[in-house]
Amino acid sequence: MSSQPFTEVRFLAGQVGETVRLRGWVRNARTSKTRFIELRDGSGFVQCVVGATEADPASYELAGKLTQEAAISVTGVVQLHPKTGQPELLVKSLELIGGSTDFPITPKEHGTEFLMENRHLWLRSKRQWAILRIRHTLVKGIRDFFDEDGFTLLDAPILTPSACEGTSTLFGTEYFHEGMAFLSQSGQLYQEPGIAAFGKTYCFGPTFRAEKSKTRRHLTEFWMVEPEVAFAHLDDVMVLGERMTKFLIQRVLESRQEELKILERDLAPLETALNNTFDRMTYTDAVEKLKTLGSDIQWGEDFGNDDETILMNATDRPLWVHRFPKVFKAFYMEPDPLDSRLALGADLLAPEGYGEVIGGGERASDLQFLLDQIKHHELNRADYEWYLDVRKYGSVPHAGFGMGLERAVAWICKLPHVRETIPYPRMMGTLRP
Ligand code: 4AD
Ligand code: MG
Repeated sequence: MSSQPFTEVRFLAGQVGETVRLRGWVRNARTSKTRFIELRDGSGFVQCVVGATEADPASYELAGKLTQEAAISVTGVVQLHPKTGQPELLVKSLELIGGSTDFPITPKEHGTEFLMENRHLWLRSKRQWAILRIRHTLVKGIRDFFDEDGFTLLDAPILTPSACEGTSTLFGTEYFHEGMAFLSQSGQLYQEPGIAAFGKTYCFGPTFRAEKSKTRRHLTEFWMVEPEVAFAHLDDVMVLGERMTKFLIQRVLESRQEELKILERDLAPLETALNNTFDRMTYTDAVEKLKTLGSDIQWGEDFGNDDETILMNATDRPLWVHRFPKVFKAFYMEPDPLDSRLALGADLLAPEGYGEVIGGGERASDLQFLLDQIKHHELNRADYEWYLDVRKYGSVPHAGFGMGLERAVAWICKLPHVRETIPYPRMMGTLRP
């Protein structure tokens, strides 16, 4: 046994000519006179070449018997593949660390249901690796963006007494003597008091919606980043959301080339989004446009999934839709001073048919207006007294938004469904693994 320290696949490009040790899992093993092992160690993928003369006899024999997902350690010399120029390993010796029998996910095609049941194993596939590394980069990018922009992280609770986004999608649970608690739909209501203390805050955590619909856009548990800004208006939301989105696209393009390539992501639409000003359109104009595109939507109705798809297949860059009828918007929205039927909300819709990734807007800052809204929406005032305090002590215009992380990952990776954007998706009908 060698005592040489292990390296990682990600470092191999800088170790050409050196003898190194790696450990990982067999993605694929091909046996002919020379034996080829595709090894993955979590940091990357590398081809290991086991030749009859270069490797010791026991290792050569072992290489011929390796099964998919066996864990091994291997020692060899790093060289560049003559055609691809990629680092590969010319193996001297290898050892079995943990065997693997009949790994259920083979290179053949599997149905989605089967893959979802085996999500804990599906994570090992190259495609899932690429997606979840991009997710990781987005999470880091989101934190970097707000931290560098002077925001203070203000974590919101997950157990809450009240609804933020309507009472029809709440998950409830018994909470001691207090009665029902609900899993948070949004941390927004908790950011609003925060801005009077910190000016600009954000929270970034899991949020929950008991969505009884099975669509490619809906999870019951998803991660949302929610910035909130004092003295800000509707326009500021659109400016901030656009800056953040571009920052994130740039970050992914810079640091996740390999992953985007594995996903065969066409980079042109991302570059278009990065290099152009996002479009803006009022809800009213969007409805007119939808009608010309064949939708039967009527003014006053919320966009359906199909409407968003139709609208966003017709353009190559992100679109802000703003000023919605207040009938289908949340109780906390500031009314449009120019048209009291409208609320000062703004949603960012992603191109390539993706639709809403950000929802936000300006918040009502007048106490009496909010009291009327709470009554109108049949909410329990006692649960919101603390929230109303923001309007009693130095109320200021303020605004913010929420971006669903999984929606953003789905668009940036161009995935057909959000279920692949989160390690362990939770949807109607999916609770395991
Ligand atoms: O538009 P929503 O409901 O807005 C809010 O929750 C606001 N309180 C946010 C704020 O202003 N602070 O949700 C915001 C975003 C959506 O644009 C979408 O990206 C995502 O959260 N989202 C979901 N993602 C996956 N599955 C679901 N069921 C989602 N519901 C919302
Ligand atoms: Mg929304």
